[in-house]
Amino acid sequence: MSSFVSVTKDGNVAVVTIDNPPVNALSFHVREPLMQALVSLRDEPSVVAIVIACSGRTFVAGADITEFGKPVQQPELRAIVAMLDTMTKPTVAAIHGTALGGGLELALGCHFRVADAKARLGLPEVKLGLLPGGGGTVRLPRLVGALKALGMIVSGTPIGAVDALATGLLDAVFDGDLVAQAVRFASEIAARGGPLTPVRDRDERLDAADLPAFDKHAADLAKKARGLEAPVACAQAVRNAVTLPFDEALAAERELFLKLVAGDQSRAQRHLFFAEREAAKIPGKDITRRKIARIGVIGAGTMGGGIAMAFANGGFPVTLLETSSEALERGLATIDKNYAVSVARGSLTEDAKQERLGLFKGSIDYADLADCDLIVEAVFEEMAVKKDVFGKLDAVAKPGAILATNTSYLDVNEIAASTSRPQDVVGLHFFSPANVMKLLEIVRAEKTAPDALATVVELARRIGKVPVVVGVCHGFVGNRMLAARGAESEALLLEGATPSQIDQVFTDFGWPMGPFQMGDLAGLDIGWRNRKARGLTAVIADTLCEQGHFGQKTGSGFYRYENGSRTPAPNPEVETLIRDKAAEKGIAPRAIGTEEIIERTLYPLINEGAKILEEGIAARASDIDIVWVNGYGFPVGKGGPMFWTGLEGAGKISERLDHWHAQTGRQVFQVVPRLRRMAETGSWDVPFAG
Ligand code: 3HC
Ligand code: NAI
Repeated sequence: MSSFVSVTKDGNVAVVTIDNPPVNALSFHVREPLMQALVSLRDEPSVVAIVIACSGRTFVAGADITEFGKPVQQPELRAIVAMLDTMTKPTVAAIHGTALGGGLELALGCHFRVADAKARLGLPEVKLGLLPGGGGTVRLPRLVGALKALGMIVSGTPIGAVDALATGLLDAVFDGDLVAQAVRFASEIAARGGPLTPVRDRDERLDAADLPAFDKHAADLAKKARGLEAPVACAQAVRNAVTLPFDEALAAERELFLKLVAGDQSRAQRHLFFAEREAAKIPGKDITRRKIARIGVIGAGTMGGGIAMAFANGGFPVTLLETSSEALERGLATIDKNYAVSVARGSLTEDAKQERLGLFKGSIDYADLADCDLIVEAVFEEMAVKKDVFGKLDAVAKPGAILATNTSYLDVNEIAASTSRPQDVVGLHFFSPANVMKLLEIVRAEKTAPDALATVVELARRIGKVPVVVGVCHGFVGNRMLAARGAESEALLLEGATPSQIDQVFTDFGWPMGPFQMGDLAGLDIGWRNRKARGLTAVIADTLCEQGHFGQKTGSGFYRYENGSRTPAPNPEVETLIRDKAAEKGIAPRAIGTEEIIERTLYPLINEGAKILEEGIAARASDIDIVWVNGYGFPVGKGGPMFWTGLEGAGKISERLDHWHAQTGRQVFQVVPRLRRMAETGSWDVPFAG
């Protein structure tokens, strides 16, 4: 017995309870007593059956991720599951909460699995750049079939108890006291007697596997993996389960797991797992959160509509305010249409759609915001308009209501100063489409109260967002670094690169799209307006906008989009435009290589990140990684720009930036001290000594 694993008896059924808060991860200090308990129960004649259950909020949520990359301590999970295979008395996993990764693999080692109706079961290892390493790839297909297992393992998405029961992963779903029911279930099986078949020997569903259909599906999934090794390895391991004898497939799974766990991609993805949780922690444990029941959103345009949906999706009633009934109707109609698309796609039921729409209240009167606990402004990006809105809010909002701005660039301190309650003002920078994108930059202004900040961080998690707290500066973390990434794009074009060449370098790197495709998608007019307001120019993009080419929405931008298609096709007119502009400037085109494109786009982005750290705009390098992975599509397998710096070499990055600085004199290449410090120490956490 240990404090992490205890054994009790209910009649002649033994209940083994794992208690390792918060999520019952299978740490060494759990595995060791668990193995001992199971061995002694196996040999104990008075015990006829064994139930494995967990205390606290969940069944085992997986292996202990903090142990990866460290020397393995025996017994491993695989040994425990192998021991379960030899059990001659029935074993039953009683699952509540989530049975994930190694947790589900432990359950797969049991003869039977029962759960409560809210339980979720899955193998999410792929999200950590891994495959299930405790026999999951060979046992799951034996219960649910190869195709279903492939989907679950490659996506990493858990399934609910009802689905799990229907597919054969669960043997029963119970209401009420789960452990008591599991004991009854186990004791009935024991009383019935007869042979027990461990999952490893249940080959019927594999024999029926349709290998050509499997291979086709696996090939489609591999295409979507964008250079990630884990999804491909997952598919291979499930295929092995179909084509190889059990022990050979298990050994192959092990080999693939060891390779992945030692690789950079999994290291990067594990870094992101902890970084995301770290980002949501703000100093000061005893801060009381403010009560948030109703949300107000001002502006029902692109962002306001999406933000309102994000809150309604999280179950909050929303008051949506516009300047006129027409604008309000337009905004509400767009929301209705967006939900209808989800219903058509099958991701939302009609009832759920109606329920969500029922949460909206439209208004054109600021007085209607008086009962809101949080009000998010998403009106035009102009300081005068924002100040006017915050002045009105100040007059109507209830005391203690949090007043938030969704500004992309503007000074949140200045906006806060236009109210009599700057302590209640915060930036909530959602990303477009706001109902879909996970990232939420939470801008802490000079006077933002700690409880207001803590409240919005927690609220963000409740509506499924990934919050990152940032400080006030032009563009905050994401857009400021994006500007540094884009600074050389124009020059690269004029010197001889093409938009599709540059975009290709990005997609080969693992980005979902390159900067020019992204510009076309977001609308080139946004950057154009922003540049004009700041007295800046970008000759190619400005000319395209002057000619009415705003990207996808006008059918042309850096690319052409035929007949409403979203697929970019090369645009010869843009290439002519680039050549003409280069000629006007007397620049002779030359061949530009991949390395140069990376050095002149990604290295300045990292340099800017270092500067952001130095200025304290981001609290941790890992926060910046979370911004870039969740808001801009930085490839997860590279862990975000700051993590990737370690892989690429901060010394190399600094040297190349020095080279480009010497060549061009441009400020974007001027290495900041924090990056040099990273090159010297190998860590972002050692501040510049001055
Ligand atoms: N190992 C170590 N720590 C873990 C962990 C794990 N598997 N899962 C969660 N934690 C930690 C988190 O880091 C966090 O720590 P903190 O409080 O110090 O920040 C704490 O537990 C609570 O986690 P969350 O904030 O994520 O809690 P939620 O309630 O929001 O979510 C959860 C719970 C759904 C279980 C979520 O934590 C989760 O998805 N965990 C990871 C599950 C997973 O990936 N399992 C597979 C692991 S790999 C594996 O099993 C390999 C095997 O095949 C050999
Ligand atoms: P939009 O032009 O689509 O919508 C703005 C809406 O605000 C319009 O419907 C307008 O009628 C309404 N409005 C204007 N003044 C108002 C007032 N005084 N009271 C009530 N409603 C008013 O603009 P968009 O794109 O939604 O941007 C809104 C804000 O979100 C801006 O600050 C922008 O910088 C920011 N943002 C935009 C992103 C994007 O991708 N579009 C991403 C992140 C932030």
